[in-house]
Amino acid sequence: MIKEKHRLNVFDVWKQFSNECFVDELVKKQLSHKRYLHCKEVTNVCIKLAKQHGVDVHLAFLAGMLHDITKELSKEESVSYMQYYKEYLYLKAPLYHQYTAIIFLKQKYNFYNKKVFHAIMHHTLGTGTSKLAKILFIADKIEPTRGYDTTYHMELALRDLELGFAYVKADNQKYLKERGVFG
Ligand SMILES: [Fe+2]
Repeated sequence: MIKEKHRLNVFDVWKQFSNECFVDELVKKQLSHKRYLHCKEVTNVCIKLAKQHGVDVHLAFLAGMLHDITKELSKEESVSYMQYYKEYLYLKAPLYHQYTAIIFLKQKYNFYNKKVFHAIMHHTLGTGTSKLAKILFIADKIEPTRGYDTTYHMELALRDLELGFAYVKADNQKYLKERGVFG
């Protein structure tokens, strides 16, 4: 008889994902050191912006830490997860990770959080509508290891989330178009 794989219930899963050390280890295990550090920096910016704009700080932590969790999957794995999001297969492959992260976290860890998933699912294109989604998009683009001066972006985003988001998005769309990634 095949033993059924133990699945944690929703309360135990949330308990696991409430533990910052558990989430840290998960990200460390899944990604290269460089990308792990990027996630940590994104998380720091997310938390600063969340505190400033009245967003749940733990959800900001989760969005920041987990947003790139599937960025280093093999092409085969990535395409197989994308079978759940076939409607987005027309996009360029570098954008797939915002969708594959959702399936990965659901299937491998039984984790589901609507607010965190909305933020992750829109973080490459900045199409999210919630404050958390806007915060993650900004943080991903302006965290310090990006290697350019983002002091003004951060000041603006702290002062006014909508203005900061619009400013960072305009910069990012220019960057994506130049590299042929957009659309
Ligand atoms: Fe990122």
